Amino acid sequence: MSAKKVLVVQYSQSGQLTDVVNSVTAPLIASDTVELHTLTLHPEKSYPFPWPLIRFFNIFPECIYLDPPALKPLDINKDEKFDLVILAYQVWFLSPSLPITAFLKSVEGKSLLQDTPVITLIGCRNMWIMAQEAVKKLLKEANARLIDNVVLTDQGSTLASFITTPRWVLTGKKDPFWGLPAAGIADKDIQEAERFGLAIHDALAEDKEKNNSPILIGLGAVNVDVSLVQSEKAGYRSFRVWGALLRLIGKPANPLRKLVLVFYIIFLIALILTIVPITMILQKLLKPLLKKKFQAIKDQFELPSGSAEDKITVRN
Ligand SMILES: Cc1cc2nc3c(=O)[nH]c(=O)nc-3n(C[C@H](O)[C@H](O)[C@H](O)COP(=O)(O)O)c2cc1C
Repeated sequence: MSAKKVLVVQYSQSGQLTDVVNSVTAPLIASDTVELHTLTLHPEKSYPFPWPLIRFFNIFPECIYLDPPALKPLDINKDEKFDLVILAYQVWFLSPSLPITAFLKSVEGKSLLQDTPVITLIGCRNMWIMAQEAVKKLLKEANARLIDNVVLTDQGSTLASFITTPRWVLTGKKDPFWGLPAAGIADKDIQEAERFGLAIHDALAEDKEKNNSPILIGLGAVNVDVSLVQSEKAGYRSFRVWGALLRLIGKPANPLRKLVLVFYIIFLIALILTIVPITMILQKLLKPLLKKKFQAIKDQFELPSGSAEDKITVRN
């Protein structure tokens, strides 16, 4: 049997998503029945990390409207065919990060994804649902087949990561402070993501990727926090409205755009500090009444891989 060809597409600023990718792909690299090709995306104009405050917020209109930045030429032949593509991405403003958007919209990306099973692998704070909806649409446009979605989110509560994640991306500081946990995904979660690679390896050996159905069920691939769905939808609508206005004013360097942006940042912080806790409290209160509806929303956004954990084997 000839080796299965797997393509990993990735981009990471801090190296966190690369660590996730390395953990997942370790069993594939170790195998002689899998040939792994890693494609790292390089934007023509690189993004800073840590981010200056205005520069950080100033890219949300382009993120939400999926405006692709120019990428450096891809180190791959676009006509090459793969048995499986693992698309690793981080979320920027409830959207796929801009280099990933650029890949998904590029001629090369579409050609590589055409008629190919795809596993999305997300590493983000914890708001990824609207981004995945956008990615699903772009994958469909490329005629790719999404078979699984794995999501790793930052450690700590929503409230804690609301402070630790921005602190990290805006200052580079990741350490625990004021009793809050370290920023980013827990090391343990990253290490344990190896289980997905093992399952992918076994599935490839049995041609299961060809069945057009998930291969990572039962491994706790994803867990939707329903209380965040409404906040994401409200945030997404707000980004669309203000993003349209800012794009109309001009390119990111336009001084008037920056001035209007400052007003929006203040408005946005007020919105987050009010809407997010209010919707979370309301949903907690309404949970007993809307149990069925919430479960349906959870099930819908957890597709295709689901949150079941019955196939996780504990290893010491
Ligand atoms: C510009 C920007 C916007 C972000 N927006 C979100 C977001 O909407 N939802 C989320 O869960 N995480 C968000 N994050 C966190 C990232 O998804 C990711 O966890 C972090 O940037 C580390 O990724 P890295 O591997 O590229 O270093 C954002 C990060 C950046 C830099």
